[in-house]
Formats: sequence, C-alpha cells, structure tokens
Amino acid sequence: MNATAETAERPQSDALVIFGFSGDLASKKIFPALYAMVKKGHLTVPVIGVASSKWGVDEWHAHVRDSLLHEGDAGGIDDDAAFERLMALLNYVSGDYNDAATFTALKAALDGAQRPAFYLAIPPSLFATVIQSLGRAGLAQDARVIVEKPFGRDLASARELNAVTQAVFPESSIFRIDHYLGKEAIMNILYFRFANSFLEPVWNRHHIASVQVTLAEDFGVGARGAFYESAGCLRDVIENHLFQVIALLAMEPPAFQSFEAVHSAKAGVLRAMLPLKPADLVRGQYIGYRDEKGVANDSDVETFCALRLFINSWRWAGVPWYLRAGKRLPRSVVEVQVQMQPPPQRLFDDSGPAGGRANYFRFRLQPQASIALAARVKRPGRAFVGVQRELYLGDDEPSTMSTYERLLGDAMAGDAALFTHEDAVMAAWAVVEPVLTAHGAALPYEPGSWGPAEADALMADDGGWHEPVADAPTQNGRAVLR
Ligand code: BG6
Repeated sequence: MNATAETAERPQSDALVIFGFSGDLASKKIFPALYAMVKKGHLTVPVIGVASSKWGVDEWHAHVRDSLLHEGDAGGIDDDAAFERLMALLNYVSGDYNDAATFTALKAALDGAQRPAFYLAIPPSLFATVIQSLGRAGLAQDARVIVEKPFGRDLASARELNAVTQAVFPESSIFRIDHYLGKEAIMNILYFRFANSFLEPVWNRHHIASVQVTLAEDFGVGARGAFYESAGCLRDVIENHLFQVIALLAMEPPAFQSFEAVHSAKAGVLRAMLPLKPADLVRGQYIGYRDEKGVANDSDVETFCALRLFINSWRWAGVPWYLRAGKRLPRSVVEVQVQMQPPPQRLFDDSGPAGGRANYFRFRLQPQASIALAARVKRPGRAFVGVQRELYLGDDEPSTMSTYERLLGDAMAGDAALFTHEDAVMAAWAVVEPVLTAHGAALPYEPGSWGPAEADALMADDGGWHEPVADAPTQNGRAVLR
C-alpha cells in the first residue's frame, strides 16, 4: 500500500501558516518538526506564524530559538545553518482571530502564495472562527486546512464544525489530525496484522478473551490547565488516540489495497462499537489538579479515565475492550495487551481454564516500540510446572521522523492516508456521547498511583489490569526468550 502513490497528482502546498504560533503545541512539537524538515531539505516554502502575542521580530525569533533549545522533544539546535534557513523562511503576523484585519495582514504576508496550508494549532473553540475568516478573506481557494484535535466537543458540535469546514474547504483539502496515526509503532499495528498470516486465525472472539489498552503519563497538565478544563481525559486522548488504536487492532482486512479501504474498515469498527453506558466508565482526578494554573478550584474534569467497551461485530461480539488513560500515573507508557483464551483443559496444575494468565500479545507503543507474545514453558525438574515467558520483538531502529514532521509533510503534499476521516470522527463521538454528561463524579487519586481503586473493579472479572513492565533488553531487534 503506497499512500504517496494514491495522491501523487496533488500539488505541494506553497506556504504553511501556523495558527497558535505562541502556544504549547507549537513550542513542543511544531518547531522541532519544522526544524527537522528544513534540515532534511523537506521544507523550503514560507512559513507564517499567527498568534495574538504582540511580538516584535526579536521576540518571536527568541521564542522559536528558546522553544527549540528548551521545550522541544527533538533535543536542541545541532545545525546552525539549518536553523538560519528556518528563520529565513519564517514570518510572523500578530492579531486577534476575531478581527478581519488579522486575515488581511495574513494575506499580505502570504505574498501571492497560491496553495497555502493552514494549520490550526489553536483552542478548539476557535476552529470555526478561523476557518470562516479564511473563507471570508478569500484565502481558502486551492488551500488546505489542517485541524487539530479534538474535532468538536460532542457529536453535535463535531457535525457543526464539519459543516462549517466543508462550507469553506472541499473534503479533499481537510486534514483532521490525530497525531497518534503518525507514530511508527501505531502504523506497525496495521502492518503487523496484515503482513503476517499467523494472527488472523486467532484474531477473533473464539480465541481472544479480552483486550486492554493503557495510555499512562507520569506528568500532570502543566501549562495546559485551561485547555484541559475544556476537554478532560476522555476527549483529550481516548475518543481519538485510543479509539484509533482499537480501530487498527479490530478492523477487518481492507477489501482492497488502498488507504481508502483502510479508512473504511476502521470506520466500520467505530460504527460497531456499542455506545458507552455510565457504568462502563470510571473517571478520576489527581490530587493537586485543582491547584494547577487555569483549573477551577471545584473542577470535576477527569485526568484519568478507565472504560469498558464492546464491538458488536461478527469478529468481536462479547469480547470486552478495556481502556485506561491518565496523567500523573506511575510511568509514561502506552501499551496494548491482547489476552488469549486459556487452554480448555487443565492438563497441568499451573495452566488451564483457571490457571493464571494465559497467552497474550503485548504491543508496547511507547516509549520504546516492541511486540511480545507470552507463552508458558516448563521449568527444569520432575514436576510439570512452568513459567510465563515472552517472545520479544524489540525495535532497535529508531524512527527518523517525528509524528508532526510526517503529518505536516503529508498534509502539505495532499496525502490524507494518516488523517482521520469524517465518518470515523462522527462514529467515535457517537460512542462516547452518552457518557459525556451522564457520568459519576471524578474520583480523587494519588499522583503516582494507577488511578482510583474503582478502575480496578471495572475489570476484576477479566483478571485485572496488567501492569506495564520495563522493556526487555533487545538483541539486535531479534526475538529473545526471557
Ligand atoms: C495529546 C494530548 O493529543 O497527546 C496530550 O492532548 C497528551 O494531553 C499527548 O499528553 C500524548 O501524545 P504523545 O505523542 O506526546 O505521547
């Protein structure tokens, strides 16, 4: 499957405009991505930042430099010439997003660019305002728009935003970002499932007992308190990032070799998910969250969420999918565990229907990508007892491209393979819609714990949450028995 081939005839964007230039996302992810693109020669067109900060040239220059040195994931500035090339491409327009004059100034700064890409790294409440203003200013013609997540706050607002966006841009020019789709380990789920033949016979309700997914972060909301107050964990990472991971794990084989077919198979999973009920959900809030900047002192916003969902399809009916995500948890790790059914007969004392954990597949998505298959092996000795061991496939070849580098580059090339389609976005909202307002209070939990105890009760019948273990050492990326 070659995403680029499907979109080969589309022209490159001839300018990139970044709304939200002074924001957290720009500092942490976008500037490092732009710098990396310039270093590799992948970005040669003008880049215009837009934000409300009234910065002079020296100030915004210093902001970009300081962000790269101190904030970014990528680790500083190691190529002064590339940094100078980036600064030469950059320009800055300051202004209020509600003021038409900002868009007039932007038009002037675009200096005749014919096919700009507009990237909205701004609070979701401003998406519609900016998109409509781009339309009114005559800037949408032949342009592309890249919209950050969350796309809407619920089903109705997502539909409304979709309508507003499609009134200004054709669907083929709309790129809805879910940066998880740009991660190598997540693309590898698709590849691993359909480039191998041994999974398919067992990848169904007859062989899989349950699936659990953990997205844990050891840090709090930091400077993003105000954003988090408007989102919460369910909207921030579950209905988008984790649902996309589930869609890749659960999808049917695409009907033909194309990313359109992949999108449609993924949307099929999201449509088959049963809408959540309040009893399927446990919300938590880390102690100290209410003292964070921008957070209400009586906030009920969740910083942790655990839920159980079902996919009502031929392949998955009856298999529970458990998801948990949260901030201020013991470690930063993203992991999937696919729990297989135990052997039907208890031949040995320590294996069988009730004999401890059966085989599982474990997909470590972050920080270090790996895939493991757990199996029991006999221990030396007279007795037929064994231990659970993992066949471990480690990834010792680091990705050479950050997610935003990949996604911004793709969008500017008109390649939508790694972006979410409107049907998938709407289907995801429809699943969480019933619990967006009807839910229990956010339960306090200690920072550094795995969330409120009630989250454990949610999956007590299915063996409890698996605690992500430390990565096994790799041996040249080959399978090792440990
Ligand atoms: C973002 C969320 O979409 O994803 C953040 O808004 C979260 O709250 C982040 O921390 C996690 O993604 P990554 O790639 O930084 O692990």
